[in-house]
Amino acid sequence: MTADPEQSDAGVFADIDALPQPMFEVLLGVLRAMAAHPEIERVRRTAWEALAPQPGQRLLDAGAGAGEVARELAAVVGAEGEVVAMDASARTLRAAEDLTPTHLPVRFVQGDVTDLRFDADTFDGVRAERVLQHLADPDRAVAELTRVTRPGGRVCLIDTDWESAAVDGVPGDLAAVMRDRLLNLSAQHHNDMGRTLRRRLVHAGLTDVTATAVTLVFPNPTSAAVVMPFFNPEVPPEAGMVPDELRDRWFAEVAAAGERDEFLAALTIWVAAGSRPIR
Ligand SMILES: C[S@@+](CC[C@H](N)C(=O)[O-])C[C@H]1O[C@@H](n2cnc3c(N)ncnc32)[C@H](O)[C@@H]1O
Repeated sequence: MTADPEQSDAGVFADIDALPQPMFEVLLGVLRAMAAHPEIERVRRTAWEALAPQPGQRLLDAGAGAGEVARELAAVVGAEGEVVAMDASARTLRAAEDLTPTHLPVRFVQGDVTDLRFDADTFDGVRAERVLQHLADPDRAVAELTRVTRPGGRVCLIDTDWESAAVDGVPGDLAAVMRDRLLNLSAQHHNDMGRTLRRRLVHAGLTDVTATAVTLVFPNPTSAAVVMPFFNPEVPPEAGMVPDELRDRWFAEVAAAGERDEFLAALTIWVAAGSRPIR
């Protein structure tokens, strides 16, 4: 996927631009569908309250993906403010820009959250949603996000705790194999990122650090498939979510559990935030 050996087992979101076009389109569709899911909306409401955006502010969404949150923030900061939607993927940024009405004050910038090309104290608030779990050095990203936030400004991190993933209604042996697969998809991927966010913000020197666990609940496979890709039969086999030899049995069991109304899945996403101390 990439020439950098340190990044070579980082998972698809670490280098989206290296993906074949059909896989990129699946991924963009996944991001768009997730943004519209009521359980993700619940996570984002929690993060919105933690960031507390105000008219006229300058905000950064690092790893902005398809840009849904950047657009919502832009509507609040208005013409006197600005939202920078930053992402490592040029292709994702182009798609996000195409989705953004030109009257919204969003600036699209390609960059690396671990090496930000912004001066210190540039932003009133910064956020990064489901980005740190993909990084080789997440603390460097937290340090950079803190550096570019002005004293008194807010840093808000949102990330998944994949180890919290739970399912009921499918045979236990199959669920155990799938859990093992999920937690070993990529050597570099941080499956516990969500629960570590608070500690990382404290270490970065932020004050008034809060952490909120939002447990997403999915009462049927269709709902779960939007956020947990291993329940989604449309994710291509090349993504490696489901072992090839188990694919037919897994999706048949998941569908059958749904038909019996015995399916249940849950996943916790954490929202942590803090303020940059005023010197
Ligand atoms: C799972 S997606 C989340 C996108 C968006 N935050 C959302 O919640 O829909 C992860 C995003 O982080 C971006 N990303 C990965 N590594 C990055 C890095 N080092 N710097 C900036 N963005 C990065 C990816 O290109 C991708 O758009």
